[in-house]
Amino acid sequence: MNLDNCSAVITGASAGIGREFARQLASRAKLLVLVARRRDRLEQLRTELVARNPALLVNIRQTDLSNLEQTMQLAALLTNEPIDFLINNAGVGDHGSFATADPIHVNEQVQVNALALTALTRALLPRMIAQKRGAILNVSSSAGFLPLPRSDPCRDTQLRDYRDRALPRSGPYRIRRGRESTGASTKAAEQSRACCG
Ligand SMILES: NC(=O)c1ccc[n+]([C@@H]2O[C@H](COP(=O)([O-])OP(=O)(O)OC[C@H]3O[C@@H](n4cnc5c(N)ncnc54)[C@H](OP(=O)(O)O)[C@@H]3O)[C@@H](O)[C@H]2O)c1
Repeated sequence: MNLDNCSAVITGASAGIGREFARQLASRAKLLVLVARRRDRLEQLRTELVARNPALLVNIRQTDLSNLEQTMQLAALLTNEPIDFLINNAGVGDHGSFATADPIHVNEQVQVNALALTALTRALLPRMIAQKRGAILNVSSSAGFLPLPRSDPCRDTQLRDYRDRALPRSGPYRIRRGRESTGASTKAAEQSRACCG
């Protein structure tokens, strides 16, 4: 998809890779929706981006993606925005043995890494299909390809295969798959259109 004038949602935009996505998209997008828990960081980023790109609209959606209610509220809000690019970037990792991992942290990982991604994809995909324009980028981890003993439980929830299933593989939409196996996977529902059967 040509990203010029896109309207993008970036989860985990308050730091790291998500913040960099925002910086790189800012000169091309018309709208960026920044999602994370730390509002102060998102506001700081908005100030920076708008100073460099005065025509850019930046909305902040402070959301804890490990909280189902907040995630569903975000998903509902976003269905009213003309989003054509979803970057599922927010992720939570861990170290050590899964067998001794803190169960609450494990639940947080599953919620952020898998369920929130699924909810946002489900919320935004219908508009992308209807407007025949859209892209979804799921940031994953090469750790998902390394079945090591004492593996980090985030590998279970950041597996590329799981994140791939957040979009339909077949059906009446033309879905183009982008780069994979690079630690990140990209998929585009670009110019999706009704199939003639
Ligand atoms: N950096 C790497 O080497 C590497 C390698 C492989 C994969 N990845 C993947 O790349 C993605 C970004 O990594 P990163 O290194 O940029 O991470 P990071 O610097 O730790 O940033 C994580 C981002 O996710 C957000 N986040 C975490 N928990 C959240 C929650 N409950 N609700 C909402 N937002 C939440 C954080 O924002 P708040 O704390 O403000 O909420 C932050 O903006 C992750 O999915 C990660 O697994 C990174």
